[in-house]
Amino acid sequence: MTENREINTASLLERRKRTLGSHTPLFYDTPLQLVSGEGVWLRAIDGSSYLDAYNNVPHVGHAHPAIADAVSQQMRKLALNTRYLNNRVVDYSEALLDTFGPTLNRVSFGNSGSEANELAIRMARFQSGNTGLIMSDYSYHGTTITLAQATTGLQTSEPMGENVGLIRIPDATGLDEAATAKLLESALAEVDTVIASLQSSGFGVAAVLFDPLFSTEGLVKVPAGYVEGLVQRVHAAGGLYIADEVQSGFGRIGRLMWGHELFDATPDIVTMGKPMGNGHPLGATVMGAQLLEDFGSENMFFNTFAGNPVSSAAGHAVLNVMADEGLMPRAAANGALLKRELSRELTGNPRIDEVRGDGLFAGMRFTDPLSGAADPATAKRVVEDMYRDGVLISRVGRNDEVLKIRPPLAFEESDAELLVNKLSRIIGEL
Ligand SMILES: Cc1ncc(COP(=O)(O)O)c(C=O)c1O
Repeated sequence: MTENREINTASLLERRKRTLGSHTPLFYDTPLQLVSGEGVWLRAIDGSSYLDAYNNVPHVGHAHPAIADAVSQQMRKLALNTRYLNNRVVDYSEALLDTFGPTLNRVSFGNSGSEANELAIRMARFQSGNTGLIMSDYSYHGTTITLAQATTGLQTSEPMGENVGLIRIPDATGLDEAATAKLLESALAEVDTVIASLQSSGFGVAAVLFDPLFSTEGLVKVPAGYVEGLVQRVHAAGGLYIADEVQSGFGRIGRLMWGHELFDATPDIVTMGKPMGNGHPLGATVMGAQLLEDFGSENMFFNTFAGNPVSSAAGHAVLNVMADEGLMPRAAANGALLKRELSRELTGNPRIDEVRGDGLFAGMRFTDPLSGAADPATAKRVVEDMYRDGVLISRVGRNDEVLKIRPPLAFEESDAELLVNKLSRIIGEL
């Protein structure tokens, strides 16, 4: 069995390289060849099982029968573009918009988070008459040219757009009250400087775009008042607030449906993707009625696959399963358990600062016990050791030094306990 697996994996790797090229990324030093999944469990080609504590696309669980049934039934009935009247997309739009506050009452569907963000930026430019973008200096929001020219969290060959102003998202983890207040003041002063610079160079401010959980940045804990101050300044400059909920949305936070609800600032536009279709490619841009009406009156906007009946069936089924299986309260309870147990096991470990994150999204940052510098090598080793021990997690952060634990919402108490046991043992053995 093992020999077969090695032969299959080696030849598949080679064929992959010959077709997809050598830079199409793969996780792990020894890539994992998966064949099936159920709930939070994955099965590899050699029959071994893995606890999935990383993937947010299979939001309600791998191969969930309700999603598979909804998709296949609709596929057998009708699958075409969206320029015909069909109840599925309207039913789904109503259900999705019901999860937002009253000002976010229109939706335009897409096929990915990148498309959702690209449309959001296009709309913000249209509405504000400006082209300047304010972005985090360590973030990722998608694959389009506009977004590549604003990408700071991974390698891109495009130079940073001249219209892009970068801000460092302040991290108050471990700071006392006085230090946090000082950090808040300097971070908002930086926002003022960036806005002034975009204005003096003629770009003005079209939008600020960020992930309310700041996950790529390493799940940083912003000082209270930071997001509100940032948004207020952007609005005063005539720009829009775009919340990228690709990572933070759909109940990831457990007690809240959307990450932007963490703050006292309502987005003008919300974008979403990954978990939305439980694996079926689906994204969306949500905004207020006036913005969509104004934009639509001057732009014939049509996206062939977006919101087609099959995608709508998938998206609607995800919302239904979340409600039927009580996945948000479960995420809240199991996320709290995970953080509590990780903190109990690992508090005092000189290599780790406090356990970060919110809801069913946890992280912990590795630093060198002597120098205090970021320690990506240890984080990588822990991720690889967890993989060898049958648990999938990953890394984020400015130096890839923060563990990323972000399981499907179907994660249960026993899964959290298993993960904590394995992780504490592996960290204890470092
Ligand atoms: C916060 C965030 N926004 C947008 C995207 C892009 O989404 P997609 O890959 O579906 O285009 C990602 C993908 O990793 C993301 O993490």
